[in-house]
Amino acid sequence: MIRLEDITFFESVTTCWTDKEKLEQYSHDETEDIKSIPAVVILPETAEEVSKILRYCNAHRIPVTPAGAMTGLSGGAIPITGGVLLSTVRMNRIIEVDVNNHQVITEPGVITQVLQEKVAEYGLFYPPDPASKGSCFIGGNVSENSGGPKAVKYGVTKDYVLNLEVVLPNGEIIWTGANVLKNATGYNLTQLIVGSEGTLAIVTKIVLRLIPHPTRDLLMLVPFRKMQDAAEAVAAIFKAGITPSGMEFMERDALIWTQEYLGSSDIMVADDHEAHLLIEVDGFDEQVLMGEMERIMDVLSAFDIDEPLLADSQAQKDKLWKLRRSVGEAVKSNSVYKEEDTVVPRYFLPELLYHVKTIGNKYGFKSVCYGHAGDGNLHVNIIKGNLTDRQWREELPVAIKELFTEVVKLGGTLSGEHGIGLVQKNYMPIAFPEITINLMRQIKQVFDPENILNPGKIF
Ligand code: LAC
Ligand code: ZN
Repeated sequence: MIRLEDITFFESVTTCWTDKEKLEQYSHDETEDIKSIPAVVILPETAEEVSKILRYCNAHRIPVTPAGAMTGLSGGAIPITGGVLLSTVRMNRIIEVDVNNHQVITEPGVITQVLQEKVAEYGLFYPPDPASKGSCFIGGNVSENSGGPKAVKYGVTKDYVLNLEVVLPNGEIIWTGANVLKNATGYNLTQLIVGSEGTLAIVTKIVLRLIPHPTRDLLMLVPFRKMQDAAEAVAAIFKAGITPSGMEFMERDALIWTQEYLGSSDIMVADDHEAHLLIEVDGFDEQVLMGEMERIMDVLSAFDIDEPLLADSQAQKDKLWKLRRSVGEAVKSNSVYKEEDTVVPRYFLPELLYHVKTIGNKYGFKSVCYGHAGDGNLHVNIIKGNLTDRQWREELPVAIKELFTEVVKLGGTLSGEHGIGLVQKNYMPIAFPEITINLMRQIKQVFDPENILNPGKIF
């Protein structure tokens, strides 16, 4: 319970909101339709303010849920215990673009796309680009170790984080590492914080490495008559020695629903198109890229494909990417759904797809699949459709368990980029034995002995 005097203290430190409308706004992220109202929303502007708030909450055992833009898909930023919702929205300065070292130092509340555009002014590239890049925060990306379409060539958020300033639950402010590309100095606390979903510390500054920005790209949408062919073609392209900068899979309904959602009809989805691959190559030399696309076409000629669409203008590329980036929203607007963020070694994607559809048939659910095929990362959207509330509540978790069991057998795991948060935590024992989960719990205990920081997440 939060008392009036707690609010008075928070107000003495920084901006707080307690009005109903604001509390409602901060009660949910983008995960299904889950909501939980916080007692207060606190919007600090500096690490020192975060420190004062955490020190106080730690002493008074008040739960604190850190939140970025609240675009997450595993419920990580939902304040399920009420208490304090600590938003990083006002920590939104890009502190320095260090052109000489190819680094950027930023606060967590900067929108990822804003950061990308800022460093691009210097010819530099920050590749991780979640579907929500126009609204998500870089701090949230660090907390979830976000990926996105470019991860297949350039890696995920963790591959760019060099150093972090964080506030520990007891209020101490520390740097986790150093601003260097190589670091063999002690345990890697930086990478422990990345992907820790706001359960260990609150990130207040981020040092990212950057790379030269590619100057050219080509984009192609390829229709497949068999979904399994599309899945098989993915590994075949990599085995031919090509690393595309985007290799996205969209099942038929993903494309149809998204076009309906966006009110567009640019792509003709023929009756026999079961799935599409959206393939991008990027670099610095158009001729080289044309050569890569030709080699990709050679590989694809062994599969049952229809005429590919090679985007011939920036506007067409933008449209195709918009389509792909809107699939999640489109599915959400279409039906009650649950999303699983399955990931397997790339070559096993066809088997993963087979299990998704087979388990769906067994339990009577429809699924719409799409995602980062080049990473073996398939977003499985399970549609409620005709399932009864009882089936949805009681049988679906059994089906999901069965699916994750197959995923783990294939060498995969529960989440590629959306995190465990609230909605996947019951499945953790499928991915890890008790001994491993206990190690994680003990790490949590070391950082946060009073369990005030994002309680009820991951475990
Ligand atoms: C995407 C988000 C949902 O890939 O991760 O569209
Ligand atoms: Zn994704």
